[in-house]
Amino acid sequence: MKNLPSAHSTGLHGSLAVPGDKSISHRAIMIGAISQGTTTIHHFLKGNDCLSTLQAFRDLGVKIDMVNDEIVVHGTGFGGLQAPTHPLDMGNSGTTTRLMMGILAGSNFSTSLTGDQSLESRPMKRVSEPLKSFGGEVQLSPKGTLPATVIGHPLHGTHYQMKVASAQVKSALIFAALQAAEPSTIVEKLPTRDHTEIMLRQFGADIQTSGKTITVTPGAPLVGQEITVPGDMSSAAFFLVAAAIVPHSKVTLTGVNLNPTRTGILTVLKKMGAQLEITPLDGPGEPQGDITIATSTLKPIELGAEDVPAVIDELPLVALLAACANGRSRITGAQELRVKETDRIKTVVAELRKLGVAVTELPDGMVIDGRPDWDIQDSHLDSYGDHRLGMMDAIAALKSPQSLQLQNAAAVAVSYPTFFDDLTKLLGQN
Ligand code: S3P
Repeated sequence: MKNLPSAHSTGLHGSLAVPGDKSISHRAIMIGAISQGTTTIHHFLKGNDCLSTLQAFRDLGVKIDMVNDEIVVHGTGFGGLQAPTHPLDMGNSGTTTRLMMGILAGSNFSTSLTGDQSLESRPMKRVSEPLKSFGGEVQLSPKGTLPATVIGHPLHGTHYQMKVASAQVKSALIFAALQAAEPSTIVEKLPTRDHTEIMLRQFGADIQTSGKTITVTPGAPLVGQEITVPGDMSSAAFFLVAAAIVPHSKVTLTGVNLNPTRTGILTVLKKMGAQLEITPLDGPGEPQGDITIATSTLKPIELGAEDVPAVIDELPLVALLAACANGRSRITGAQELRVKETDRIKTVVAELRKLGVAVTELPDGMVIDGRPDWDIQDSHLDSYGDHRLGMMDAIAALKSPQSLQLQNAAAVAVSYPTFFDDLTKLLGQN
């Protein structure tokens, strides 16, 4: 049980560069591995999820060095991946699992994938079904989950209309399409994060995007690159929200990725009336900038399905913002939350109720009756093993005059191993 710090009378102050983006760190290893030559990755996120990806590619025979905080991937191309001698451990990482299924679909060997208890309960048919239309084969448990076996086959081009709005599924299909004998088109249900498309183009792939349609023409050689991973918006979001809700605060988050498929939390903060200043930074690669935010009086918000993809990982924080706003907020069209690391509708509702917030669970979201001051009901918060829940709890605790504790705090290392150190810096306790 971890004692959580409070900042209700002091606030958060100062400037912080958050760790590298989780989605981009995964992709840098993966795309480096399937390319020819060397890929050097700066500002790689050494969170447990990305380390699962790193280890999985080592197990597939890819040489990956860690030199002075840099990762160097010695790419083998798709054809150079080797059958592993044991099942690949995906840990807690849905991104590793789903993207890996697409990468291995065109191999000439079979690979078994396992994961932790949370990952082994998450749906995988959303990848295995569409891969069939490329000629791919992934065997799942009877429940449609891990453990899985990817049985490699020669793949063919296809046209696929996606049934879920998921960047993980889209990315798996793009990786399969790159190995197919003909071009493919993939049509998204809603636009989702496009880091795979952007990075693959940088490595030389022929990928065209027009609205929600992505056309992949295989055959262009992929060549290793130098990648600097921008700061993770999903990690910055914890401190943006902290500064907005904790009195006497003003913080700046530097070098944060501003890819528009990821900035839903900034849109939400602006709509809720937060005092926010964004300074774009020049440079190669994905857009980046510095974000300054100060304590704000918040208005309630309504979010629907179209808003969800750009804020999917920040919805627990949106719920927390709503809990601090004056009035009723409503989040709908967010049923995907039920199949994240935990059922994040259930777990967020449970945690907010402990804080004394009136919240109603909906099948696809929640209704939150917020108010600036809470009447804490239960001081024992729980991450339920879900990194983003643990960090949401820690941010909520900053506002509480009463001391709160967190069960299963170690889960934060999945995406943000230095979260509590960075929080301490902004609390001025360093
Ligand atoms: C991710 C996509 C999102 C997100 C996850 C990372 C990615 O999942 O929730 O944390 O890196 O592609 P879905 O695409 O399944 O919604």
